[in-house]
Amino acid sequence: MVFEAGIPVLGICYGEHTMCAQLGGNVEPDPHREFGRAFIEIAEDCKLFEGIWAKGTRHQVWMSHGDRVTALPPGFRVVATSPGAPFAAVADEKRRFYAVQFHPEVVHTPDGGKLLANFVKKVAGCAGDWTMAAYRDEAVATIRRQVGSGKVICALSGGVDSSVAAMLIHEAVGDQLTCILVDHGLMRKNEAAQVVEMFREHYNLPLILVDAADRFVSTLEGEPDPEIKRKTIGRLFIEVFEEEARKLGGADFLGQGTLYPDVIESVSFSGGPSVTIKSHHNVGGLPDRMNMQLVEPLRELFKDEVRALGRELGLPESFIGRHPFPGPGLAIRCPGGVTREKLAILREADAIYLDEIRNAGLYDAIWQAFAVLLPVQTVGVMGDGRTYENVLALRAVTSIDGMTADFYPYDMSFLGKVATRIINEVKGVNRVVYDVTSKPPGTIEWE
Ligand code: XMP
Repeated sequence: MVFEAGIPVLGICYGEHTMCAQLGGNVEPDPHREFGRAFIEIAEDCKLFEGIWAKGTRHQVWMSHGDRVTALPPGFRVVATSPGAPFAAVADEKRRFYAVQFHPEVVHTPDGGKLLANFVKKVAGCAGDWTMAAYRDEAVATIRRQVGSGKVICALSGGVDSSVAAMLIHEAVGDQLTCILVDHGLMRKNEAAQVVEMFREHYNLPLILVDAADRFVSTLEGEPDPEIKRKTIGRLFIEVFEEEARKLGGADFLGQGTLYPDVIESVSFSGGPSVTIKSHHNVGGLPDRMNMQLVEPLRELFKDEVRALGRELGLPESFIGRHPFPGPGLAIRCPGGVTREKLAILREADAIYLDEIRNAGLYDAIWQAFAVLLPVQTVGVMGDGRTYENVLALRAVTSIDGMTADFYPYDMSFLGKVATRIINEVKGVNRVVYDVTSKPPGTIEWE
């Protein structure tokens, strides 16, 4: 970190340690590592706390550290303390250097956002007049500069990220862009048609729909191993995409909806190998041999900002607020291996489930909801007859970023209503269960 007079700095957690160590203080390993919720007491008024925390009051924050400051550099004073961190917040207001031991950027520090805003506006003097409209103009100009008169192709999945990226690139370079939607036969009911209708008919985006359902489903048929399924889908996707790109006579650029969290997560902090829980297939992950430069206009944005940009571009709210849908689609919701029949059953059941969620006004309260068709048959009775059909599991979770999740606590009567509709309307299902596993220890998808 560089500390120069005139440049305001806010050190957070290890940033505080670095600041104190470099400016003449002292930092030592803390035998009492602190992790989790803690309470700080405001010792002095300070610009960081203006309008949020008054002197003498206590506030919840989130701590996570294994070292601690034991002596302050010259010029600093303590402005907040906690039982485990006597230097919980420190300031050298003359030089505009501030540091906090806790994490203001996480939701468990309820006023953290306001503290960061105080630093940005009151200390650093930024106006805070950044708007999505300005971002859009800047992004369009940047894409034009990068692409020039080159050709861009973009894999469109119908998800928010790839759609917003494609819209922005289209605004910048018009028909120099061609979008490719690979229908792998693993989408939800009517999904491919809806995406085509919206982007081709409504927004005039040059879009090629490739019907590759037979190729995907016949290759996957009968394969029960989740990792092999995921890898097969990834491989086929690349094959189809390359074939289509070749038909177009190649392209100079590949448009992708890479977000800022993807950029951060691709950096390993420990430097060590991480365990593969699932091989993620994202439509953007194409091999180097395609030899194209990337156009990634969303690289600096978080998901909520991409949604705001989508609104700015005029995408309808119903599209922007859609639940995430995984690249491998319904294949990873068919444990035991996909067949055409199973996919057809799952598609119908899933459509009814989502329809009921919308009717009950619950869609926006849920991060993601879907059905899973289990490779288990059970005995039932319908009318006068015995049935021997599959079990369907329903899943719904709340989450902030998909990294952790809680199961959604439906009313039992809602679940009963959904189960009755599915069993009555979908041939092939005679029992419905609800998944009450959080993440961790479960994952959101079953495979
Ligand atoms: P898991 O199952 O790992 O899922 O808890 C976390 C979130 O990621 C989505 N997901 C995927 N998205 N390609 C994607 O684009 C994938 O291969 C993939 N696998 C899981 C999942 O739906 C959830 O939102």
